This record gives sequence, C-alpha cells and structure tokens, in this order.
Amino acid sequence: MNLLIDNIGQLVTVAAGGRRVKTGADMRDLGIVTDAALLIENGLIVRSGPAGSIAVPEEMEVMDAEGRVVLPGFVDSHTHTVFAGSREHEFALRAEGKSYQEIADAGGGILSTMRATREATKKELYRSAERRLTAMLRHGTTTVEIKSGYGLSPEAEIRMLEVIADLKRDHFASVVATFLGAHAVPPEYAGDRQGYVDRICDYMMPYVATKRLATFVDVFCEQGYFDLRATEQIILEAKRHGLVPKLHADQLTAMGASELGARHNAVSVDHLEKTTPEGIAALAASQTIATVLPGCSLFLNHPYAPARAMIDAGIPVAIATDFNPGSQMCFSMPMMLTLACTQMRLTPEEAVTAATLNGAAALGISAETGSIEPGKNADVVVYDVHDFRTIAYHYGVNHVWKVIKSGVVLDF
Ligand code: NIG
Ligand code: FE
Repeated sequence: MNLLIDNIGQLVTVAAGGRRVKTGADMRDLGIVTDAALLIENGLIVRSGPAGSIAVPEEMEVMDAEGRVVLPGFVDSHTHTVFAGSREHEFALRAEGKSYQEIADAGGGILSTMRATREATKKELYRSAERRLTAMLRHGTTTVEIKSGYGLSPEAEIRMLEVIADLKRDHFASVVATFLGAHAVPPEYAGDRQGYVDRICDYMMPYVATKRLATFVDVFCEQGYFDLRATEQIILEAKRHGLVPKLHADQLTAMGASELGARHNAVSVDHLEKTTPEGIAALAASQTIATVLPGCSLFLNHPYAPARAMIDAGIPVAIATDFNPGSQMCFSMPMMLTLACTQMRLTPEEAVTAATLNGAAALGISAETGSIEPGKNADVVVYDVHDFRTIAYHYGVNHVWKVIKSGVVLDF
C-alpha cells in the first residue's frame, strides 16, 4: 500500500538518527518539519519533503492533511490489557478513604481480577482485549505491550499469554508480550511465597520461553509481593532463558528495586513513584530506561515519579499508561502527556519523545518504530490540531483524525 500524506502543518518526526533512545536536551528535539509531505511505501516510511514537492506516482493514495499535525504512533510500553471483570467497587472504596493496599489486603486488588480472569473463557478474554486495543488505536497508540499476571497458575498464565499471542497475530495494533507470573502470590501458595517463585522459575518460565510466548519477564518487586531476593532469582532465570527483564519498581515503597534493575540491565524499571536519589544515581549509571506511569498516580492519588529529576540526570525516560482494572483504568496516551506536563513538569516535547521513541526503546523495538524516519514502520497518526502541543493542552478530548498502521489507513 503506497500513500502520500500531503499538506502536513507540522510533521513531528522525533528523528533520532539511529540512536536507540533519547536523553537529556535531546528529548526536547522533536525534529519538526512544517508544511511537509510524507511518502509511505509497502508499510514503511520512505521520505519526507516540503508540502507539494513529492510527485504522485500512479497507484498512489493521497491524503490531504489540510495543515493538520502528524506524529509517530504512541508506544504504550506498560499495560495489563488482558483481564476479566472490573473493580468499580474499589474505586468507590478509595473515594471513601481506603488505600490501594488496604483494599488488596482485604482480598481485593490483583487477586480479585485473578478470580475473574480464571473464570473467563479464552474467547471472552480475547474479545474484551480486542475491543480495548481498537480503542487504544483510535486514541493514537499503535504499539501496545501487554502483560500476563492475572492468571497466577501455570494454566491460567499460559492461557493469558496465548490470548496475547492471538491478539499479536490478528490485531492491527502491534502487540508485545510480557510474562508477569510474579504479579502476586496466588491463594494456592498462601504462606509459601518461595514455593510460587520456584514454580515460576522451574516450570512456567521454561514453558513460556520454549513456546516463545513472551519477550519480557516482569516482577512486581514490592513489599508484600516479591522481595529483592525473589526478584533477583526470577531475573537470573529469565536471562538464562533468553528473556529480558523488566520490573514494577518503587511504586509503593523504596526498597532498592530500581538499583536491582539497573544492576541486572533490565530493559526498563517502571512506576518509580518512590524512587530515591540513590535509585536515580543507579539508573543514571546504567542503560535501563525509567518508565513513568502518571495515570497511576492520578487514579490512586499517589505521588508522581520524579521524572523531571530523572531527565535532568540524563536517564532515558518513557511514559506509559499502565492500563489495568485496579490502579489505572485509562488507555489514553494523550491524557498521560497532559499529566506528565502538568504534574511532572516535562515539556510537551519531552513528553512526546517519552511516549514514542523512548517507549519503543523500552520494548527493544526503537529501530523499527517510535519515530518517522526512512525505513521505519509507517505507524503515524494525524491529529485534527495545528500545533502538536494542543494534544496535551486540550485534554480529555480525542484529537485523532486518522490512524495509519504499517502504511494502512485504518477505517473506524
Ligand atoms: O502496575 N502494581 C502492580 N500492578 C498493577 C496494578 C494491578 C492491579 O491492581 O490489578 C500496576 O499498578
Ligand atoms: Fe503495571
């Protein structure tokens, strides 16, 4: 499919010139071309040029952007999009003053979604996630990482990963799978956390690796969930199987999870609401990406991760939604940009880089997507605005006009 997008008001390329990720002042350089045209062939970006300058060969579809803004598709590098049930009652309890942890300790939280997910059929899980993915595409997200972690038994975790694999095969959005068996200790192992960790390492992980059901392995490294020792055991086992570690780190307590992730070369450590200056120093000395999830802070009324300090320390920062039924029930990346700018003091330019190129780097795919450069996937979104900053500034509104995934103009 060949496509020319002409009369683009602002072409926000986020061009990285071959760099895997952007850091520091480079995060503010979006490589914006005004009054541009963009040529796409066979699903890939070919080149850009001044508006009206690219001749239209035959067999070419032409889209007149009429001065609108074009960005790379957002890369949502941290989500829990496959789940059953919903948790409005917990939302209501929090409004009455109960905390996320109090609700989890009383049998709600992750285990409540685990019960619903175990009861759902594979088809039900697939259908609901498919609808969510389509809605994400409509909001400008073209790549979505999805974690398991609501099965918490070998059968139910593998079922979740198989649903993710089916979505990856069938859906227009690009899907990346992460095995999060270590999301919580299931009831079968109550009082025997180590038994569950051993089950993950000795039984679940080899199967996931052999069947290629995931690229990444994640752990909820947190008090009451998985401590540093258990997390390290899982990280080492993941590496032995050629799987790449990621962590849920420093969300509720600072217990050294970022430092552990940095030491083991985790591709990313995510959350970071409670990260200390020591954690920042460890990340700054590593290649690990700091993925911040501002929607989670908004929804749980928790502090925001120190993303400003992290960028100033030279750490590559990514932004993701953490979309899940408990702590963050919003899949809009533009909403995350608004929060990053208003609550974390990122500039709109930094927020866009964090949500595109750096998100792709947090999934190890920034050579293929995350910016608009020759040879990369044509994952581009046209917004009905005339300044890219409006996407974050005029919030709560979906400004998407057209979504182009791998060169195909989606029809929805
Ligand atoms: O990323 N922190 C752990 N996991 C999710 C919450 C999952 C849930 O509450 O269902 C998170 O916030
Ligand atoms: Fe999460």
